[in-house]
Parts: sequence; C-alpha cells; structure tokens
Amino acid sequence: MGTHNYPYQGEGIDVMNLLGSRGFRGAGGGTWTLIPTPPSFRATSVQVCGLWPFSGGAARPMVGVPVGQDLEYGSTICCDPINWFRAGYSANPSMMIYGNPGLGKSAFTVRQILGLAFQGVRPLILGDLKPDYPDVIRALGGQVMRFGEGQRLNVLDQGAMLQASDRIGGEAGARLLEQALQRTTTMISSLIQIMRRARMDDWEQALISRAVRTLDEKHRRQRGEPPLLNDLAALLREPTQELLRATLADDVDEYRQTTKPLSRSLEALLEGPLGRTFGGQTSERIRTDAPGVCVDVSAVAKQSDDVMAAIMLATWSEGFASVEAANALSDAGLAAQRNFLVVMDEMWRPLRIEGAGLVDKMDGITRLNRAEGVGNIYIAHTPKDQESMTSRADAMKARGFTERAGIVVAAGLSIDDLQSLSKVKPMSDVEIDTVARWNTPPGWRQKMVTDLRTGKRRPAPPPGCGKVLIKLGDRAGIQTQVKLTQAELDMHDTNARWLAEQIV
Ligand SMILES: Nc1ncnc2c1ncn2[C@@H]1O[C@H](COP(=O)(O)OP(=O)(O)OP(=O)(O)O)[C@@H](O)[C@H]1O
Ligand SMILES: [Mg+2]
Repeated sequence: MGTHNYPYQGEGIDVMNLLGSRGFRGAGGGTWTLIPTPPSFRATSVQVCGLWPFSGGAARPMVGVPVGQDLEYGSTICCDPINWFRAGYSANPSMMIYGNPGLGKSAFTVRQILGLAFQGVRPLILGDLKPDYPDVIRALGGQVMRFGEGQRLNVLDQGAMLQASDRIGGEAGARLLEQALQRTTTMISSLIQIMRRARMDDWEQALISRAVRTLDEKHRRQRGEPPLLNDLAALLREPTQELLRATLADDVDEYRQTTKPLSRSLEALLEGPLGRTFGGQTSERIRTDAPGVCVDVSAVAKQSDDVMAAIMLATWSEGFASVEAANALSDAGLAAQRNFLVVMDEMWRPLRIEGAGLVDKMDGITRLNRAEGVGNIYIAHTPKDQESMTSRADAMKARGFTERAGIVVAAGLSIDDLQSLSKVKPMSDVEIDTVARWNTPPGWRQKMVTDLRTGKRRPAPPPGCGKVLIKLGDRAGIQTQVKLTQAELDMHDTNARWLAEQIV
C-alpha cells in the first residue's frame, strides 16, 4: 500500500478520513458503488500459505470428497463416510441417506463413489434395482453384472473364499473355508425362509449345515466342481448315515417324514422363478480386483418381493464373501489391504419381507463392516418404513441401522418423516422446518437452465433437488447443495425419459 499515490496526497488533507468501506470518497477516489464478490476457493493452509491476507477460515470440514456448497455460508463442503471415519469425526464409516424420490440421493452417492474411487476405495453396488450405477462403474473401468437375465448364481459355490482359502492354506485357509461353508448354510436357510415367509427350525438349519459339508467333500474334492442346489435336494431325499443321525431318526422312513417340509421348500425354490437364477453354476463371479463392481438386479425389480429379496440377499452374500476373501489374502500377506464402499440403494425393499429374517442379515452386515474395512452408504425413502414393520423386534433392529450410522443425511422429507427421523437422530425445529421447505417451489414460473452439453435451455431440476442436510452426531446439520459436473449429470440422469422432448 505504501507505494500508492492517494488522491489529494501532499495537499494537507488527511486522506485516511476519506477512506470508506467502498474506497476513497471524492473525485478520483475510485469509490465503488457495486462491490463484486470475488470468487472464493477452498484449500489447505499448506496450499495457500502465500496468499496472505486474502484467506479466511471456514467452520466446515475439509476432509472428504468435495460434494457441494454450504447453503448458509457458501463454503465448499467435503463429506463421505470413509474419510470422516478416518479423520475420527464418526464412530463408523457409514452413511444413511433418507429422502423423497427424485431429489438426488443416488446422484449424491455417485459423487462420493467417484471421489472415493480416486482415493483407491473400490465401490461395490450390491443389488442395483433401478439401475442407477452401471454407467458410473463402467466409466471407472469396473465390472457390471446383470442378474435375473440368464445370469446364474450358485449359492453352494464358495467362489472367492475357496480360492483364497486354497492360496492361503494351513489353519488360516481352513478357517476361511469354514466361514464360507457357514455363509452358504445361512444363505440357503435365508432362501428357504423367504419361500416360507417364516423362520426355519434349528434342527433344519443344522441339517442343511451338515448336508452342505457332506456335499462340499464329495463334489469339490472328488469332482472338482461345486455342488448345485439340485444335489442338495437329492442328498436330503437320499440321506447318508450322518444326516440320519443329525435328525435323530430311527430309520429312513422316519427321516423322510420329518424332513418332508424342508424337502418341499427346497423343491419349491428350484421349481419357482428363483430356480432360474439359483439352479446352475455361477456364470460370473464378483471381481474385487476390479476398480468397482455393480450388480444390476433391475431385471428382477418388477418381480415379486420374494424373488427380489432373495436375489438381493444373494448378491449381498456374494459381495461380502468376496470382501472377506480379499481381507483374508491381505492378512496372509498375499495381497494389499483394500477398502470398499458398499452401496445399498433402495434398501427398504428387501426388508419389506417380514418373517424371513432379512432384518437380522442386514443387522449383522451393518455391525461388522468397520472391522472388514468396508464403508457403507444406505439409501431409503422414509424412516417410517421401519415403524410400519409388524414385528417389534425387527423394527427395533431396523431403527438400529440409523442409530449406528456415522452420518445421517436428510434430503427433502415431509415434516412427519423428519419428526420420525428426529426420534432416532435428534434434529432441531429449525432443521426440520428447513428440510421440509426444500420441496416447495419458490413460485409458479417455470425455471429453466442451460444444458451445458447441448447449450440448449431445459427445465431446471425440481426444487430441493440436490439439497441435503448432513448430520453428524448431535452437531447442527450442514445444509448442502450438491453440485454435479456435466459429466456426472450425463452419467446419472434418471429423468432423461421426461426431459428429452422438452429441451428447446
Ligand atoms: N445436485 C443436482 N443438481 C442437478 N441435478 C440433479 C442433482 N441431483 C440429482 N439431479 C438430477 O435429478 C434426477 C434425480 O436424481 P436421483 O436419481 O439421484 O434421485 P433419487 O433421490 O435417487 O431418486 P429415487 O428415490 O427415485 O431413487 C436425476 O436426473 C439427476 O441427474
Ligand atoms: Mg435413487
């Protein structure tokens, strides 16, 4: 400043008296009537240390994927479950997103997937119902699998866990194989529970467990090929001495009488629509060494809830088995430790099947993930889904998903929904009011925006689109406008069918 020539300098006038907030008053002073807002950028103090004095602090975290802009203060917001967990902000790497349809929950998730992928975290989209994520995963060079269209999944195939167990060998390898066999037993029991819409008896589970081990011995070790569900049904019909003992039956007739309901359920599973998916050898395995995996189950999304739940559950099981295998290889020093981001969009659909124990499965998954090096994003519409569950025990467990979630995100919910959510993650009246108002259009004039790709004008996204309230513990929520790049919008336009004609 010392080198500047001020107006009236040297004329006996105290120039500093002329200095106002908009410059020097008087002729030649250069007072500004309109003060432009200079663009502001966020960076760490290491990056911008030389920019003094033009830098200022912001009370928003700089840790995580840059997702958008703070609606209150304009600063950049960075957020994702894995980096916030690593920074010690949250107790576990999980995020629960609630919001009305079409308000950008999946788009917000796509941004986090992309950001984390560039930090080496591999996205696993297990059971994509729309599908929302294949384009993103393809863009990352990942693996996209489509279930329900000829693709088969053999639940008796230990897949990645078996391969890892063979590579590891010794006691650790045997332990992994044992885990794989237990997982298979649980998966088969879940399928039967879905068919029956009721829980299995403990002796039935024990019988399945025994049969799975017998088959594994016989098929894999002797024939070099995993057994199929058909083989399991046949073994249950023609039992070995071991299976007879497991049911405490005196002879085969008594055994058949006792196990008739179980055999019937298995036959129904093989004969029904699920037989097409689960009745053969796995066509394609999940590759955890790919930059990302999306299991597209949109082909079954319109089928009955049972079929959909079974296939979703199977993809979860297959996905987590692959993660366990990758972890076991890294524990044995045979591969580098990898971190995964598991996304479960529309997670409430499979949970609608009550009595099938799916809440238990998900409960188990959500408790273990931190230890497995896995971060999670769960997406649902309304927290009231859990309240409408008839089983109180299931409702309490489902409520636990939100309670345990490190970060809870609300996107344009009704007051009623927000009050429900507030019972689990307390929200202030102001927060509830703010989020509820996001859905309301500011006026009746149609808002238009320029499509960056075509340069043409098109209707703006609906009010509330991309606005999220990010809640961490009991802190005040961060009101964020998620800002997508054109490349992201091109990859994730779930309104394309509506807007194509309207581009003018
Ligand atoms: N921040 C944003 N800015 C502009 N457009 C957006 C933004 N977020 C989402 N969109 C657009 O809004 C549409 C709906 O988004 P998205 O599919 O992510 O919503 P959703 O909440 O996941 O909906 P659903 O509940 O039906 O799955 C998409 O076409 C998407 O491109
Ligand atoms: Mg969505």
